[in-house]
Amino acid sequence: MNEIPADATPFPHRAGNLFRIQYSVNWNDEDPKLEKDYVNQSRVMYNFMTNYVSKNPRGAFLNYRDLDIGAMAGTGKNAYRSGKIYFTMNNYWSWWWEVDNERDELARTILTILVPVLALLWFKWTTSFIRNGTNRPPGPYGLPVVGYLPFLGHNLHERFTEMAHKYGPIFSLRLGSKFHVVVNSVDLAKVVARELDQTFANRSPPIAAQAITYGLINVVWSNNNAHWRNMRKLLVSQVMSNANLNACQGFRTNEVRKTVGNVYAKIGTPVDINEIAFDTELNVVTSMLWGCSSSGDYFQGFREVEFKIIELLGAPNISDFIPMLSWFDLQGRKREMQKQNEHLDRIYDSIIEERIERNSKKMEGEVEEDLIIKKDFLQIMLELKDASPSFDITQMKALLSDILVAATDTTSTMVEWVMAEILHNPNVKKKIQEELTEVIDMDVVQESHLPKLKYLDAVIKETFRLHPPLPLLIQRCPDDSCIVGGYTVPKGSIVYINIWAIQRDPKNWPNPLEFRPDRFLNGKWDYNGNNFKFLPFGAGRRICPGSPLGEKMLKYILASLLHSFEWILPTDEEFEISDEFGFVTKKRKPLVAIPLQRLSDATLYK
Ligand code: HEM
Repeated sequence: MNEIPADATPFPHRAGNLFRIQYSVNWNDEDPKLEKDYVNQSRVMYNFMTNYVSKNPRGAFLNYRDLDIGAMAGTGKNAYRSGKIYFTMNNYWSWWWEVDNERDELARTILTILVPVLALLWFKWTTSFIRNGTNRPPGPYGLPVVGYLPFLGHNLHERFTEMAHKYGPIFSLRLGSKFHVVVNSVDLAKVVARELDQTFANRSPPIAAQAITYGLINVVWSNNNAHWRNMRKLLVSQVMSNANLNACQGFRTNEVRKTVGNVYAKIGTPVDINEIAFDTELNVVTSMLWGCSSSGDYFQGFREVEFKIIELLGAPNISDFIPMLSWFDLQGRKREMQKQNEHLDRIYDSIIEERIERNSKKMEGEVEEDLIIKKDFLQIMLELKDASPSFDITQMKALLSDILVAATDTTSTMVEWVMAEILHNPNVKKKIQEELTEVIDMDVVQESHLPKLKYLDAVIKETFRLHPPLPLLIQRCPDDSCIVGGYTVPKGSIVYINIWAIQRDPKNWPNPLEFRPDRFLNGKWDYNGNNFKFLPFGAGRRICPGSPLGEKMLKYILASLLHSFEWILPTDEEFEISDEFGFVTKKRKPLVAIPLQRLSDATLYK
């Protein structure tokens, strides 16, 4: 075989370390031992490679890849064959350093700087954890910079519950630069929301929340401070007090009767259950807030706006996990939320301006007797604003948003879940109807009937157990490092109480996945957050202040829909009962059902 030709060049130089040698070899046609040439070729190739490596100090291990025997030319002793030998060579650094254009050189320089910087940051981040507290809750490792984000998937409540099975009742994970802790047991939920409730009473709001809360001055997202306490006190004492709820009974009766009439008009056709429940709740709440229901131009498209807000609050946002990127709003979540807020803001401005104008006419004595304004929540807030300069219009709007957003989607989602479970369980439906007939007979449902509907109450609670609309509650944030379950939870961590896991834990609930309302018939269960096995409205200082209204409305809407109508599922639609995680976790596929007349007396639908 010939020696390696002088022009045998490594090829292509920078892609994958694949080299090619062109060769030509004398070939004796008459020689029967053709394999010999292969041996020769291997030897020549080996020589070339060793030679190349000795001149190329960054090179190392060589590996034969392929042999292209190539074409044959000539005959007899003059025959020769040309071909190619391919081989790979581990050529340390060559792909990194041996660039031949400016663009690659720039990329190489940036990467050369970035990689060690990121590695250093990661190292500092992990060692700072070790320094600040060696005893972090167990949990999965993540990647540098993004942490465990790429592995989380969509249904966070289910994923966290799976992780609790692996890591135990408390675990931690890093998402971007934020340290998250999830507690999954009754005992540890008690530590967070009872024993250390004060320490854990701050929130850690997502960036999207800032755009909808006039800079986080509302009740849901404010930290535990004097402002939050004042706003919450106002909400509880003026809107959710027993006295006010009783005074507003007429609004609820009007709106629920209107809904029954609307459904009656659609008898025999498919109805979206969430939509009717949403509209009823919205009308009740707006009546309580400013004395008239949501009909009118202001509220065109409000349901879509609300759904978008809830979607954006629950959607993963890279700006939340890597705050130094928040300036760019890469996913546009903040911009989208600002758009929704502009819509709501227009509604509040019109309503507040209208009321101020009417108040001034009233003061001038121009207003007729029937226009004199009842003291609804808006009126109470305006009077408060006049009396206390620290309470301004922006705070009023933040509070209105709190109530409108927190009340409507949660309640309508629950009406939908309860109806779905009832239609899924014919025995349960039969028992509810028997109870309704026994308590109400052939009459219209009144609020006074509701305390007697014990079985319906148990069905609602069992649905709350299996489908809590906020399965991780709303994240809390400790204002100091503290110990939970023997582990250190650092100040500023984001902490979730996983009630989805607690309410489905067989240690707390026998046969937890079965829908068995009877377990709630013993009268021991309520929504006050005292029994940590059942926390659909949360617990501690941050417990939902709207539960009295939520509970009343749920029962009233459901009793009225179930007493007035026989509900059947459309035959052409497949029924399913899976959920989709979000700030409010809803039924994946909206529930559509067909109402049929149940009461023989048609006047009961007017
Ligand atoms: C079925 C209906 C409802 C459900 C399931 C529900 C559930 C919840 C939950 C789980 C929380 C978080 C509690 C925690 O972090 O521990 C919460 C907070 C809150 N809810 Fe509700 N809620 C409902 C109805 C209402 C209504 C009608 C209002 C109206 C005023 C309301 C207003 C609020 C507010 C303002 C907060 C924040 C409290 C704070 O951070 O201090 N909710 N709700």
